[in-house]
Amino acid sequence: MSGKLENRVAVVTGGGRGIGATICGRFAEEGALVGVMDIQDEAAQQVAEEIRGSGGQAIAVACDVTDQGDVEQAADQVEQKLGPLAIWVNNAGVSYILPFLECTERIWDQTLEVNLKGAFLGCQAAIRRMLPRNRGVIINMSSQSGRVGNSHYAAYCASKFGVIGLTQSLAVEFAGEGIRVNAICPGVVRTPMWDTQIEDYARKRDLQPGEVMPYFASKIPMGRIGKAEEVARVAVFLASDDADYITGQAINVSGGAVMH
Ligand SMILES: NC(=O)c1ccc[n+]([C@@H]2O[C@H](COP(=O)([O-])OP(=O)(O)OC[C@H]3O[C@@H](n4cnc5c(N)ncnc54)[C@H](O)[C@@H]3O)[C@@H](O)[C@H]2O)c1
Repeated sequence: MSGKLENRVAVVTGGGRGIGATICGRFAEEGALVGVMDIQDEAAQQVAEEIRGSGGQAIAVACDVTDQGDVEQAADQVEQKLGPLAIWVNNAGVSYILPFLECTERIWDQTLEVNLKGAFLGCQAAIRRMLPRNRGVIINMSSQSGRVGNSHYAAYCASKFGVIGLTQSLAVEFAGEGIRVNAICPGVVRTPMWDTQIEDYARKRDLQPGEVMPYFASKIPMGRIGKAEEVARVAVFLASDDADYITGQAINVSGGAVMH
């Protein structure tokens, strides 16, 4: 039985761990040839090795998504080794939770650089290469914080709202060229991203770190936080021909926490 992404070349930025690594694995299971891009080279290597170990095809490419030269070079490398790009997922992201007046210019810039400029550069690299074939799919990782503002989260929310604006703009601009552009808005998923910020969130709500995830779960209609696998399945759907008539959308994967 062939997979939904058979022989399609797919890039996933921030593919070295967390949601990105899970998307890489699911894409490979569906037959895609995966370029695992991450600023953490070793992590990307490990994900690519695991995929190859399970019979899939993948290469690791070191890439800082905030650097245009790096992104273009990484895209070239993927095309040289795997073939013409069909799918590009802008998933790399960073997140800081802190009171607005403590948000330094550096934290603001870094958040916007990775989350929004990184998606901009990834979209340019992908679209340039997809246009000659009039075919391609881009998925941008936004967040439920791209739909609803949240305290102590100004830079992150600004970046993730921006990702949806970028997604809609490109969806319109390239709909006639066979390129679909969509976003995914996950709710809370327990990935390594939370290792560094669970204490910051605990402070914000006056909780113990161990109480943070149960607190989130209690606020979600489905009563639990999300799984990376659940986000990856939506990425497979959006990347596949099943989503042929879907562009410019931002899909919430949040157990009902956000409904618009
Ligand atoms: N985990 C959640 O609760 C959650 C919720 C909503 C949205 N998201 C979004 O999903 C995406 C993945 O999140 P995650 O939880 O898996 O995070 P994570 O921190 O576990 O993984 C992020 C990956 O991005 C890579 N990365 C960071 N900066 C980079 C750069 N400049 N260039 C290339 N790679 C870089 C990291 O090395 C890491 O491997 C992010 O965009 C995040 O904002 C996460």
